[in-house]
Amino acid sequence: MKQNKKRIISGINPSGNSLHIGNFFGAVKGQIELQENDQYETYYFVADLHALTTIHDKARLLSNVKSVVLDYLSLGLDPKKCIFFRQSQVVAHSQLAVVLANYIGLGQMKRMHAFKDKLQKGVEIDSVNMGLFNYPILMAADILLYKPYGVPVGEDQRQHVELSRDIAERFNRTYNTEIFSLPEALINKNVGRIVGTDGQRKMSKSLGNIIGIFDDPAVIKKQIMACFTDPNRKKATDPGQVKGNPIFLYHDLLNQNQKEVEDLKNRYRLGQVGDVEVKEKLFLAHQNYFAQAKAKRQQLAGDFSMVEEILTEGAKKAGLMANQTLSQVYQLLGLK
Ligand code: TYM
Repeated sequence: MKQNKKRIISGINPSGNSLHIGNFFGAVKGQIELQENDQYETYYFVADLHALTTIHDKARLLSNVKSVVLDYLSLGLDPKKCIFFRQSQVVAHSQLAVVLANYIGLGQMKRMHAFKDKLQKGVEIDSVNMGLFNYPILMAADILLYKPYGVPVGEDQRQHVELSRDIAERFNRTYNTEIFSLPEALINKNVGRIVGTDGQRKMSKSLGNIIGIFDDPAVIKKQIMACFTDPNRKKATDPGQVKGNPIFLYHDLLNQNQKEVEDLKNRYRLGQVGDVEVKEKLFLAHQNYFAQAKAKRQQLAGDFSMVEEILTEGAKKAGLMANQTLSQVYQLLGLK
């Protein structure tokens, strides 16, 4: 029965113009699996309000949103099985964020990673954009509006989901209510932090260490060919290290020909295969893995008015749940 289903919510920030394999394996793939599972009611959205922390250009914002919407749908979100929408089209997200800001202290906000990372990069505290500082509060609103059981995300979002729990607990205690659920971060241990092609840091567009999904094949090939491998291996005849080598991690994720992967690993360990062959095979595996999604994307891009209808419908459905929660909150506060 519908009301017994556990709700799931998650989103993607369209700060970049396309998704990378870190987004896909770290978050989107798991989200699609949950959408397929009858036990859950899934809500997914494109967090366009969050993109305002970095994008102050209308054309760029519109184009990024369009692109990420197409990416998300082509990768397998099915609007018949999940509720898919654009954050700004459900106004309750902004409204609840204004309320929730009153149930969290400055000290805890200062400990949030995104803010701390900025300072570590040498940005002056006084010039930190308040949208960035408040980002986790808007995210708590995104989550708590849907009273979810879980939030499928990558490891980098764990702290944000935990903050949502803290805010929910404080709010519930203050008003002696159980209005907000205490959401779990659903993070897959094996793929919660996909390493970038530099072999060290988390794969991230801003770090320039990504492997894209829908980019031109020439771009993908360049990204793969530039990938860090085993630094101690000077020539193809040197025995190489497979464990912890990002190129093999990507093979494990993308290459559906397991025999080929095992053969490459064996030969790599023995010094019987060059990096170039391993990388070229990865490139082919990548093109193969995403071939269907790419075809789907082309088809959807050719009918964007249909995609817009999906978003409008999704916003209507999400709005029902979101407005109901907001209304309950307003009543508790004395705003109604
Ligand atoms: P965003 O857009 O940066 O990333 C989207 C999802 O991809 C995951 N991810 C990764 N997973 C594994 N390895 C990586 N290298 C990697 N890079 C990214 C992220 O963890 C995320 O799950 N603040 C969020 C968007 C958001 C949101 C929300 C998410 C806004 N409101 C409410 C959940 C619930 C973000 O910027 O994700």
